[in-house]
Amino acid sequence: TRVFVSRDMASVALGADEVAQAFAQAGCDVVRTGSRGLFAIEPLVEVETQAGRIGYGPVGPQHVAAVLDGSHANRLGDVDALPFFASQQRFTFARCGITDPLSLADYAAHGGWKGLEAARAMSPQAVVDAVKASGLRGRGGAGFPTGIKWQTVLDAPAGEKFIVCNADEGDSGTFADRMLMEGDPYCLIEGMAIAARAVGAGHGYIYIRSEYPFACRTMRVAIEASAHLVAPFTLEVREGAGAYVCGEETALLDSIEGKRGQVRAKPPLPALKGLFGQPTVINNVLSLAAVPFILAGGAEAYAAVGFGRSRGTMPVQLAGNVRHGGLYEIGFGITLGELVNDIGGGTASRRPVRAVQVGGPLGAYFPPSMFHLPFDYEAFAAAGGLIGHAGITVFDDSVDMAHMARFAMEFCAVESCGKCTPCRIGSTRGVEIMDRIMAHRVPPSAVQSGPGLLPSQEHGSLSKALYSRSPSRIDTSLDAQTTLLRDLCDTMKYGSLCALGGFTPYPVLSALDHFPEDFGASPSPDL
Ligand code: NAI
Ligand code: SF4
Repeated sequence: TRVFVSRDMASVALGADEVAQAFAQAGCDVVRTGSRGLFAIEPLVEVETQAGRIGYGPVGPQHVAAVLDGSHANRLGDVDALPFFASQQRFTFARCGITDPLSLADYAAHGGWKGLEAARAMSPQAVVDAVKASGLRGRGGAGFPTGIKWQTVLDAPAGEKFIVCNADEGDSGTFADRMLMEGDPYCLIEGMAIAARAVGAGHGYIYIRSEYPFACRTMRVAIEASAHLVAPFTLEVREGAGAYVCGEETALLDSIEGKRGQVRAKPPLPALKGLFGQPTVINNVLSLAAVPFILAGGAEAYAAVGFGRSRGTMPVQLAGNVRHGGLYEIGFGITLGELVNDIGGGTASRRPVRAVQVGGPLGAYFPPSMFHLPFDYEAFAAAGGLIGHAGITVFDDSVDMAHMARFAMEFCAVESCGKCTPCRIGSTRGVEIMDRIMAHRVPPSAVQSGPGLLPSQEHGSLSKALYSRSPSRIDTSLDAQTTLLRDLCDTMKYGSLCALGGFTPYPVLSALDHFPEDFGASPSPDL
C-alpha cells in the first residue's frame, strides 16, 4: 500500500517522522510530501486507493492498522474536499502536500518546468511584460510591482547581473516561504530561472534564515538535482545568522557579500546597484514562486483573480491563538473576518477574539470591529496597517495590548542594526515610555515584563536613570506619556532609514488607537 506523509518541519514537530516510520515498518510504500498546510490534521496520512487518496489525521504511530483497514476515527476522506482546502485558490501552492518535493518526475508530471519552457521561447522583454500584465506585486510585504522591478534590471547595462531570493522570513507567525521551500523547491528554482532569463542574470542566491535547517537542506539537494535543467543559470544557498534586519534587502545583500548585515541608504536601488554593485533582482520566495504559474498559465489567468490593484492570490498564514492554523491561499479581497472566523475557526482557546496582528511584528493590530476590511494592499494601508507577508496572528480577550505595544518597541530595540538614531535610541525610549504608561494602570509590583527579550528590571533601571538625570523635567502623567509616545512614533516613522524603525509605530499606534483602555484611558465610545 502506498501512503503519503508530510516531511515539512511543522509536521515533523507534530510526530510525522515516527508515523512515517511505523507505516514503513508495516510494509507500506511511504512517500514523504510537503505539508497540505492545515496543522490541526497533522500528522496527516493519505492512503492511495482506487477511489483516490483517503486522508486520516491527526494520526499517531500506534494507528497504522486502523488507518490501513479504514476504521480510524479521524478519517477525513478526500482531503481536497475539506472546506479548508476546497475554498482555496492554490496557484503557488498547487503541488505542496501532493508531490514528493525532491522528485523531478513528480514535479514534471504536475505541470513543472512549463513556465520556464514558455519563458525560453519568449524574448526577455516579453517575459517581463507577462509579469507586468499579471499584476504581481512583491509578496515580501512592500507590494512593489515585480514586473517593474525586473524591467529596471533588464534595462540596466551591466556585464553581470544577479537573482537573489529573500528567504529570511522573519515575520512572526509566517511560514509560507519555509513551506514552499520544503514542499515544492523546484517551483522556486523555476521562478528564479525565469527571472534570470528575463533580465539576463547568470547566477542566483537563496538567502535562507538559519532557523530553517530543513529548507536549507531541501533547497541544496533540489539545486543539485535540477542544475542540468536550469543551466547555464546556477544557484546557491546562503544561510543567515539570526538577525531580523538581514531580511531588509540591502542588509541581506551586505550579508551575502560577507559583511555585517547593515541597511544601506537607497538610492541606489538594488535593481541598479545591488549585489557586488551589480544590477540585482531581489524578490521574496512567494513572488518568485508565483512566476511559473504566470508564465505557464498566462498572465491573464493570474490577473483575473484579486481585488482592486491587488491581483492574483496571497498565501495567507493563520497563526497564534487560532483553531485552524495553517496556510490558506486565496485571491485578494476576502475579508479579515472571513479569514479569522470562517477559515481560522476563531480562537483555539474558545474565548472571543480581541485583536489580530496582520503583517508580522511591524504590522498593525486590528479589533473585530475592523474585520470587514478586504485583504488588499491599499485597503490595509488606508486603515493604518499593512498586509506585509500576510501573516495573521490571533489573540483572545486575555491579551494586554499595552504589553504588546511595549513588546513592539522592545523587539525594535533588540533587532535594530543601529545605523540610525530614531530606531536605535527611539525604540529604547519607547520601552521606557511604555513602562511609565503601564505603571500608571496597575500597582508597580504587578507590572509585567516583556516576553523575555530584555528583563523589565533592566528597563526599570533605564527609566530610573532617565529620571535621575532630570527628575523635574519629566511629566509622568498618563496624558503626557501618550503624547510623548505619539511624538516618538512620528519621529521613528518619518526619520528611520528602513522598515524596522519606520514601521514599529504601526503596532504601537494601532494598539493605542484601538485599545485605549489598555493604556489606562477610558474606552472610546465608537470602538
Ligand atoms: P520598499 O518599498 O522600500 O521597496 C520595495 C521593493 O521595491 C524593494 O525591493 C525596492 O528595491 C524596490 N523598488 C522600489 N522602487 C523601485 C524602482 N523604481 N525600480 C525597481 N525597484 C524598486 O520596501 P522594503 O523596505 O524593501 O520592504 C518593506 C516591507 O518589508 C514592509 O512592507 C514589511 O511588510 C516587509 N517585511 C517583511 C518581512 C518578512 O518576513 N517577509 C520582515 C520585515 C518586513
Ligand atoms: Fe538600522 Fe533601525 Fe535604521 Fe533600519 S531603521 S537602518 S534597522 S537603525
